Amino acid sequence: MNKPFSHLLTIALVAATSIFMVNCKNETPPTEAAETPAPAAIAIAKTSFGTTADGQAVDKFTLKNKQGMQVDVITYGGIITTWTAPDKAGNYANVVLGYDNLAQYEKATPYFGALIGRYGNRIAKGKFTLDGQTYQLETNDGPNTLHGGVKGFDKVVWTASEQPVDNGSALKLTYVSKDGEGGYPGTLTSTVVYHLTDDNALEVSYEATTDKKTVVNLTQHSYFNLSGDFTKPILDHELTIDADKFIPVDVTLIPTGELKPVEKTPFDFRQAKTIGKDIEQKDDQLTKGKGYDHCWVLNGQGFRKVSTAYHAGTGRLLEVSTDEPGIQFYCGNFLDGTLPMPGGGTYAHRTGFCLETQHYPDSPNQSSFPTTTLAPGEKYETKTTFKFSAK
Ligand code: GLA
Repeated sequence: MNKPFSHLLTIALVAATSIFMVNCKNETPPTEAAETPAPAAIAIAKTSFGTTADGQAVDKFTLKNKQGMQVDVITYGGIITTWTAPDKAGNYANVVLGYDNLAQYEKATPYFGALIGRYGNRIAKGKFTLDGQTYQLETNDGPNTLHGGVKGFDKVVWTASEQPVDNGSALKLTYVSKDGEGGYPGTLTSTVVYHLTDDNALEVSYEATTDKKTVVNLTQHSYFNLSGDFTKPILDHELTIDADKFIPVDVTLIPTGELKPVEKTPFDFRQAKTIGKDIEQKDDQLTKGKGYDHCWVLNGQGFRKVSTAYHAGTGRLLEVSTDEPGIQFYCGNFLDGTLPMPGGGTYAHRTGFCLETQHYPDSPNQSSFPTTTLAPGEKYETKTTFKFSAK
């Protein structure tokens, strides 16, 4: 799609969604904006996405940028339900797996598009000790706690507000988790800001504070399929992960404590290779993960580019940057053709992959891993950017 046309389409969509505009920097009413050749601001439109089974209203916010990228976020779980990206011909298509209604998200989801907390990834036996006190969390993944527990941050309704940014406004989501919720100590106040930039990047900024010493490890669980065709497996995507080591796991996917060199293993993504290239190799770790479902020890420190995914057929390129020490690369091994796809059909094996930036799994029980402890007076702060382009 050429640029002027995509601009017009953006304007038309914004105008057609005759809804409450949360923010529009130039404050031009949508109908007048349709006559303006080049809209400058990011528009965030709000619509209803229904009501949860326990009666909470859920809203959907639609972020759009100048280029025509669209990101839909619902307040339930902070879930990204739609995320469009351009192919090499300039055509935007949705590249994330999801559902089209709330009931499906509430019924059964493998964390499609969701914010994950309090603790992304696994905590062994749902147990950890802080200052001599042992906490028992709810377990929800065999003997372990996965992604927060039975009712993680992916299953709560977040409060939305707008946050002014240079190119318009960003969507800020807040959730206050009570002391003892899910077994975790401390009242944890978390905010996540989704900021869609005009260069087709979504910046995801996380902050959290607590009133009692606790652990925290937030992440984003979008499933990407850059082909835009969710009937196709993602095995043909070319992946890089800038990591010399990864974290081997036991049969319950808890780290053994070792940081293992990727050299001469199927886990070496330092040079681009397709996800499918080595996935069927006979390898103990691939057997345990049923494919790739591991955390890589990212090279370098500070905010840096850590991973890329490229789909040659469409030319779509995703670049992930973060300040986190690890990334869980999961390639949809548990998708088994039972979950419904919008428009008909079901999500088949390995039709989406996740790049979950985070601290290492089970850090509260692994003293050699970077700490995930947060104390009162400290601020948890981390940022990840997902940037799309085409080549
Ligand atoms: C994470 C985990 C996987 C799996 C998926 C959701 O990526 O590491 O083992 O639980 O979430 O199915």
